[in-house]
Amino acid sequence: MPKHPENHVLIFDTTLRDGEQSPGATLTSAEKLEIARQLAKLGVDIIEAGFPAASPDDLAAVQRIAREVGTPDGPVITGLARAVESDIRTCWEGVKDAAKPRIHTFLGVSDYHMNYITKTTKAEALEIVRKAVTLAKSLCDDVEFSPMDAGRADPAFLVEVCALAVQCGATTLNIPDTVGYVAPQEWYELIHGLIHETPGAGPGSGIIWSVHCHNDLGMATANTLAGVQAGARQVEVTVNGIGERAGNTSLEEVVMALHTRPQYYHLSTSINTREIVKTSRMVSNYTGMPVQPNKAIVGANAFAHESGIHQDGMLKNAQTFEIMTPETVGLHESRLVLGKHSGRHALKIRLQELGYTFEGDELNRVFARFKALADAKKHVTDADLEALVVDETHKPQEIYALVDCQITCGTMGMPTATLKIRGENGEEKVYAAVGTGPVDAAYRAVDAIVRAPNTLIEYSVHAVTEGIDALGEVTVRISPAGDTRTFGGYGAEPDIVVASIKAYMAALNRMLVSLGHGDLKPEGEAAAVGIRGE
Ligand code: KIV
Ligand code: ZN
Repeated sequence: MPKHPENHVLIFDTTLRDGEQSPGATLTSAEKLEIARQLAKLGVDIIEAGFPAASPDDLAAVQRIAREVGTPDGPVITGLARAVESDIRTCWEGVKDAAKPRIHTFLGVSDYHMNYITKTTKAEALEIVRKAVTLAKSLCDDVEFSPMDAGRADPAFLVEVCALAVQCGATTLNIPDTVGYVAPQEWYELIHGLIHETPGAGPGSGIIWSVHCHNDLGMATANTLAGVQAGARQVEVTVNGIGERAGNTSLEEVVMALHTRPQYYHLSTSINTREIVKTSRMVSNYTGMPVQPNKAIVGANAFAHESGIHQDGMLKNAQTFEIMTPETVGLHESRLVLGKHSGRHALKIRLQELGYTFEGDELNRVFARFKALADAKKHVTDADLEALVVDETHKPQEIYALVDCQITCGTMGMPTATLKIRGENGEEKVYAAVGTGPVDAAYRAVDAIVRAPNTLIEYSVHAVTEGIDALGEVTVRISPAGDTRTFGGYGAEPDIVVASIKAYMAALNRMLVSLGHGDLKPEGEAAAVGIRGE
């Protein structure tokens, strides 16, 4: 069990469960494992690794995280389970190999949920909770119970449900505002009332109260902090605030509010704040969900000062317009670090200073990319290096790889892309396609070779640094034909068309790995050489 002194808030990260329920955020199990490892490095206390009963793949991913990340000095590993026997048993199968396993079970308790979803009376709901928590406790010592849609439930009934869950062995009571409906003061009063009125769960009982807020009205962070002020000592959050609809409470916002205002909150967390930006980038790249530039803490503009008055103040004293330093969240001042004459060792050392350890072949690959960049670009900054590292390390298994490409575009003639792509079996194919623009032409050529029908849901490009020679970062999200899941890809290159091709191919590879690429190929192979549209 994690420590929970009075003034310490436990960080329960549900990026891999509620976050993965975001429209479009489908992760492979290798990506989930890597994110879980990074969450452990970030210092979260509890990782909700998935919903094991959802599918055999989800179960396998939770098991892997439990075994590989749930070490004795690592985080608690939990999985979600509906209040039904099969879910609870499957959840236990998922988490039981962790050094500190937890079962998290839930039941909808608002009239909306009881009348329309579970179709139960209050008495029946209580019976379901009794059976579910008792079963979970018989399997696992650490049990969390959530009365779903608590924000719209009858508070007196909530007290009854929570008291029963505690009687049956729950040690954490998590109160969700499932639909992001409640206002901060209202939430404070509800949580305060529950803590003080629930028999067997008051202050000093050892029961941890937790809050889980959704962001439909943009109040998730405010509500979570109000819950903490009311006495909750666990917060359920996701990296970048991803999650169903408008998302969950963002981890970085709550953590940095507590960290930046210690005299106000008098509360600590175990988070290593310097890992925040790295974790945010990893989640954004793997899910293919870009972070909005003005997002608090991790947005590209979060520490940028544009107006003259602000810049002047910053030069005189950074505290005039800066309430926390970029370094606190792991954002390094973007400065000139290395040039084209810098060697492998200098690169290795600088990467280490930025928090990335590379050896052997991996270091050689990053070094080759760095050299190419240093040749093309006069100034190589930390931001450039980080983009290269992300591009190199957050790559899915490569079923198809871009070998070469040549693009022509402009006002005369048709934008044309000629691509050479290597398939899994080593065979290389060349295809030329025309399109409405260079990216369209290139994507048509990729499609002709890879032949994995999909829809491009989102495409975004932005410059890593300022200046005409900036590295371009491209993020795409695609959906396989006839499927609602989406897969993301990322590419960073000085040439934005090449970055676009790499991002698209990364998303395709992710999709093919996840869905089994044999199943996706339509009849017939692409011609080795051809002109699309001819
Ligand atoms: O939002 C919600 O109610 C949930 C519960 C399952 C905890 O995610
Ligand atoms: Zn939720």
